Amino acid sequence: MSAEERLVSADAGGPDEQVIEAALRPKRLDDFIGQQRVREQLSLVLHSALRRGRTPDHVLLSGGPGLGKTTLAMIIAAELGKPLRITSGPAIERAGDLAAVLSTLSEGEVLFLDEIHRMARPAEEMLYMAMEDFRVDVVVGKGPGATAIPLDIAPFTLVGATTRAGMLPGPLRDRFGFVAHMDFYEPAELEVIVKRSARLLDVRITDGGAAEVADRSRGTPRIANRLLRRVRDYAEVRADGVITRELARDALTLYEVDERGLDRLDRAVLTSLLRKFGGGPVGLSTLAVSVGEEPETVEVVAEPFLVRQGLLARTPRGRIATPAAWAHLGLTPPPTAPMAGTLFDLGDAVEEGAGKGAGKGAEQGDDQDSVIS
Ligand SMILES: Nc1ncnc2c1ncn2[C@@H]1O[C@H](COP(=O)(O)OP(=O)(O)OP(=O)(O)O)[C@@H](O)[C@H]1O
Ligand SMILES: [Mg+2]
Repeated sequence: MSAEERLVSADAGGPDEQVIEAALRPKRLDDFIGQQRVREQLSLVLHSALRRGRTPDHVLLSGGPGLGKTTLAMIIAAELGKPLRITSGPAIERAGDLAAVLSTLSEGEVLFLDEIHRMARPAEEMLYMAMEDFRVDVVVGKGPGATAIPLDIAPFTLVGATTRAGMLPGPLRDRFGFVAHMDFYEPAELEVIVKRSARLLDVRITDGGAAEVADRSRGTPRIANRLLRRVRDYAEVRADGVITRELARDALTLYEVDERGLDRLDRAVLTSLLRKFGGGPVGLSTLAVSVGEEPETVEVVAEPFLVRQGLLARTPRGRIATPAAWAHLGLTPPPTAPMAGTLFDLGDAVEEGAGKGAGKGAEQGDDQDSVIS
């Protein structure tokens, strides 16, 4: 099962979903829900620039998929009243690709560079100069005869987006005047988002219904909007179209998304860890075989959210369930069950040090923080 097929995947879906997402995007900063601090800071950056009649500092939006980076980029252009040019890291394979974009920007235009961490290295150098001096050197010719022709470009605002801020080279990160870290949303914020989307989709929903959808959305607006649409389908076919708490609960039970937003795979991994391995520790590949999945699938698709939820811990000895995992599945831990937080609680420092040496019996997956997104 690929991550994209999951109802609870935070990644963007196919073209159909993208059309709906576009329709649900807030257009102005005031309509953007949650991320209070980012919103306030950004508002200051933009409005002070407007007042001074200058282009604002370049903005870096960093955060997981589906948290609103693209939405904010569009809002920035709208607030500035300037056109928006959209490109992405993977589209820029050579410096020339970037030069072509930069040299055709109009004064004050907002350039949205999505997945900026995936841009080609040579283009990065060019971007540094463009960001700082609004100038690029276009290299003409090859070898010893090559010459660099400086080219002025119109002052612009770069909005970079990345799900991997850690992968950005320092010099690039430093050239952004404002870095916005987007966090997961609180249930109360997601509830407001769900109600707003319901209004736009012409769906009737009660407060309880919205809260139920919000609670199962993993802190992510994209997932909230997707669950809302599935619950709407259910409400239209099985009921009178109104989404109440009970209906949302029934619908999401049918779609196998539980109260904490765990789906079938998440629950299978957790159930196996508890029932077959007494809560662990168990190695990643053994755990994966026990649920009939590839280790990568378990590690990349299921585990990050389980870890984030504090249901599972990755230790040098293998995967361990936390007390919360037993509670969530309504199971009683055996008296001897080792649990993270008690017997085998190895702090991060120990984990790192021990991970290398204790590698023999423990089949360790990649326990880097980067996969715990
Ligand atoms: N703060 C918000 N208020 C209301 N809706 C939001 C908010 N943030 C995101 N959304 C909705 O969630 C969906 C996904 O948002 P968006 O495309 O901006 O995420 P993203 O961070 O760019 O994701 P990716 O990393 O996959 O590009 C959009 O439909 C958008 O309308
Ligand atoms: Mg995006």
